[in-house]
Amino acid sequence: MISNKKILVTGGAGFIGSHLADRLLKEKYKVAVIDNLSTGKKQNLNSKVKFYKLDIQSQKIAEVFRKEKPDIVFHFAAQIDVKKSIENPIKDAKINILGTLNILENCKKYKVKKFIFPSSVGVYGNSKNLPIKEEFSLNSISPYSVTKLTIEKYLNYYQSQGLSYTCLRYSNIYGPRQSAKGEGGVIAVFLNKILKGDKPIIYGDGKQTRDFLYVDDAVEAATKVMYSPSGSVYNIGTNKEISINYLLALINNIVKKDMRPIFKPFRQGEILKSRVSYFKAKKELKWQPKYNLSKGLKQTAEWFGKII
Ligand SMILES: NC(=O)c1ccc[n+]([C@@H]2O[C@H](COP(=O)([O-])OP(=O)(O)OC[C@H]3O[C@@H](n4cnc5c(N)ncnc54)[C@H](O)[C@@H]3O)[C@@H](O)[C@H]2O)c1
Repeated sequence: MISNKKILVTGGAGFIGSHLADRLLKEKYKVAVIDNLSTGKKQNLNSKVKFYKLDIQSQKIAEVFRKEKPDIVFHFAAQIDVKKSIENPIKDAKINILGTLNILENCKKYKVKKFIFPSSVGVYGNSKNLPIKEEFSLNSISPYSVTKLTIEKYLNYYQSQGLSYTCLRYSNIYGPRQSAKGEGGVIAVFLNKILKGDKPIIYGDGKQTRDFLYVDDAVEAATKVMYSPSGSVYNIGTNKEISINYLLALINNIVKKDMRPIFKPFRQGEILKSRVSYFKAKKELKWQPKYNLSKGLKQTAEWFGKII
């Protein structure tokens, strides 16, 4: 592995970004992190990263680029809460669009060699056909996923300015360190409630489905595209459709409880069915998920068990 490359991970104190930073350090890269700790946590930070507590919208971001001169930027900082994006689309766009443009302008200025962007399968909206493939039409139904799509489009422009990029359209990622606050990920939210002895809430009838990807598999996909050609977009998921009702049963089984849910009305902007084809990533990147849901859930439950 090449170890003299410098990597910048924005959002590196967050759930996925911190696992990514750990993995890159293990592979002997030099890693700097920018994070404003809005949802990220200092304790997620590996002691070997160079940490800059900064907002991605700040003008001071330029100083970090000037100092660090990163070869590769993983831009994982974002406002990720769909509900918040509906309540305040302007704030959401300021972070996810304008903040990202601030990072991209610096990537252009400081001649970053590769920009890796975690997009979302949310960009497809409620897809009629499953599994979702990259060529499907794009119909974002929440301000959050509109910001993801917007940045994908901007990347086309930045490519014309010499910036190489790859977009990873991730399904629902779960694992240790995921926040159970606010919307969080449903697995984190359920585990947090159940382990505390509270009833989990299901919005809708629980028959809605998701494609759950373990965080190590998500990180592995990100490292696979560090040197891949520019302009590619990959779906990253498991091609497995899990209903929320089934997920709850599985979690109850793993933590040896029988916690019944409280049902509440469906939420706006919610996708009904999701299953993501990773055929392209398998073919071109030789990537495929290594974790099945029960193995990933066990590891996640173990972690939540320790912090609750
Ligand atoms: N978790 C998922 O299922 C999923 C799926 C698809 C895409 N993604 C994307 O992956 C990335 C990481 O998501 P995550 O689940 O780890 O969420 P997270 O909230 O744990 O991580 C985001 C990090 O960005 C930081 N941040 C937020 N706003 C910032 C700002 N203005 N300036 C600097 N730092 C800021 C937060 O403090 C946090 O550490 C996001 O871009 C998200 O949209 C996540």
